[in-house]
Amino acid sequence: MSETWTFICPTGELLPGEMKTAFDEVTGAGIVVFNLDGELYALEDRCSHEEFELSVGSLDPAEGSIECILHGARFDVRDGRPLCAPAYEPVAKFPVKTEHGGVWSRDDRD
Ligand code: FES
Repeated sequence: MSETWTFICPTGELLPGEMKTAFDEVTGAGIVVFNLDGELYALEDRCSHEEFELSVGSLDPAEGSIECILHGARFDVRDGRPLCAPAYEPVAKFPVKTEHGGVWSRDDRD
C-alpha cells in the first residue's frame, strides 16, 4: 500500500469530461482520474478482464462510464464496478484529492 500521494496533474488541466493518468510513485500501479461535472474519481488504470489500460478507451461523461477499447467492457468510473461483459470483476478504486493546485491520488490497496 502506498501512503504517498502521487501528483496526477494541475487542477486546471483536468476539466469536466476529461481524464488524466499517472503511475503511483510507490507501487507503480497505473492510476486514471476522471472529472465528472467537477467531481473527481480515481481508478486503477487496468481493465479487470485482461489487464489492458482503461485510459486508452473512451469516457462517457453523461453515463459516468469508461469503455475498454480491447473487448468493450464498461465500468462505472465512480466505483469501478463492471457494467457489462466480458468483465465481471470491479476495477480498484483509489482515493483522490485536490491540494496545492494539483490533483493527487494513491494506490491504497494492502
Ligand atoms: S481487456 Fe478490457 S474488455 Fe478485455
